[in-house]
Amino acid sequence: MSAERIDGTVVAERLRARVAEHVDALERTGQRPGLAVLLVGKDPASEIYVRNKRRLANEAGISTFEYFHSASVSEEQLLETLGLINDDPEVHGILCQLPLPDHLSEALAINTIRPEKDVDGFNIANVGRLATGQEAMIPCTPLGCLILLRERLGSLAGLRAVVLGRSNIVGKPMATLLLQNHCTVTIAHSRTRDLKSVCRQADILVTAVGRPEMVRGDWIKEGATVIDVGINRIPAPERGQGKTRLVGDVHFASASERAGAITPVPGGVGPMTIACLLANTVIACFRARGLEPPDDLWL
Ligand code: GUN
Repeated sequence: MSAERIDGTVVAERLRARVAEHVDALERTGQRPGLAVLLVGKDPASEIYVRNKRRLANEAGISTFEYFHSASVSEEQLLETLGLINDDPEVHGILCQLPLPDHLSEALAINTIRPEKDVDGFNIANVGRLATGQEAMIPCTPLGCLILLRERLGSLAGLRAVVLGRSNIVGKPMATLLLQNHCTVTIAHSRTRDLKSVCRQADILVTAVGRPEMVRGDWIKEGATVIDVGINRIPAPERGQGKTRLVGDVHFASASERAGAITPVPGGVGPMTIACLLANTVIACFRARGLEPPDDLWL
């Protein structure tokens, strides 16, 4: 079998186009949605993410506000900045780019962001609401994965899902979303015994471990849907000296021989994460205006 490629770029473009339509509708009510991005230090990867978020937000008509602090910023200064952004009525969504330098508490920063502006869905209020089935901001990467799964499979009810990885950002919220979608869910991780045979039971396999090409074709059930969240840079001497390339947590060629459908890296989950961030910002803006958010964003 040669798996169907699930094209996240196309699905993300469609989502961003719907976001842009709703931004126009909000502007007609006198409010343009605004997204604030806070970056601490000069991590090159984070700078690229922030630049991409700004470009795509602006393309969708969302205003962006950027706040930069040096890597030596004190916790007090950082929390003061977050307090100012919390109180800014032009800002509907706040993203504090992670990781933060070691001397700063990520938990404190995240929990200082008002839950209604927490477009990452990392604040404990949103984590708790999601876990208990209440209205919540849903973390962007798991939400993007869910949209791709629904796109491919329609209803997920009754399917066996394995989430590989137990991070707060991806693994845990992904498992919660799959459970809400009536899957039978297993969270597997580095201490799981016989990881391969656990993965082989999955109708849906979501991998988020940051281990290049760890999941091989013989880990995959025939016909399974595989969502690869990993983005790993590895040396690519075949492209020239010092060159690198991006790969996922899944060995794409061998997995494609067995899976029914699979996301590529790059071009799978990555574009969905930013599109979902923009969608969450629009939802936050609707709620801030006392309006019901549109229910057609995720179609
Ligand atoms: N760093 C890497 N990915 C993310 C993300 O989705 N949100 C935030 N805030 N920081 C990140």
